[in-house]
Amino acid sequence: MKRTWPLALGLALSLSALAAGLVMGTTPYLGWHLAARWTARVGFPIFLTTYLASSLVRLSPAPWSRSLARQRRWWGLGFAASHTVHLLALIMALRLDPAPRPLASLIPGGIAYLFILAMALTSNDAAMRALGRNWKRLHATGIHVIWLIFTLAYAKRIPVPETRQVGLVMTILALAALLARVLAHRRRGAQAFA
Ligand code: HEM
Repeated sequence: MKRTWPLALGLALSLSALAAGLVMGTTPYLGWHLAARWTARVGFPIFLTTYLASSLVRLSPAPWSRSLARQRRWWGLGFAASHTVHLLALIMALRLDPAPRPLASLIPGGIAYLFILAMALTSNDAAMRALGRNWKRLHATGIHVIWLIFTLAYAKRIPVPETRQVGLVMTILALAALLARVLAHRRRGAQAFA
């Protein structure tokens, strides 16, 4: 199978989520709003796969985890593609929103989008060579900024009764993923001194 399939998966899932939102929404605004929600929801597992790819191979070395680690660039690009569809849906939802949001509330998400763009544009061998150590800095910072925005977006749903369940499940998944990264990092440290 082609190594690029996670990119096609990200695009296919997010476009399906967008179409489902538009079909289920009873008004154009509700349709785009649902599309924004569901494109983010399908993007989250793709993000988690990217976030965990290198850690899983350290925590559980096996052919499947090595193959995942080799493909992590394509999982990252799959996430960037799916979140570009989220961007399209949220722009439409914001345009149709009867109560416009204050500009300041868009800053954290906007910063995450700048990282997504920078990471997608530098996900190639030429950029890795050109940026050297800064490539790792950019990608390590970016992936944690995106993790933070996901975690905050879901954690703030926990106090609201209608979204409590999804908020709780996704926040726990995000925290578990962070824990896995910390454990993998510590294992790497222990191996370095072994
Ligand atoms: C300025 C940028 C952004 C805006 C204006 C925005 C807007 C929206 C809107 C309108 C929704 C639907 C809200 C609802 O269901 O009530 C949504 C959902 C969501 N967005 Fe975004 N978004 C932005 C960036 C991001 C980024 C960068 C991430 C992640 C890194 C993200 C993650 C989420 C999540 C997790 C949900 C909830 C999905 C669910 O209910 O499962 N958003 N966003």
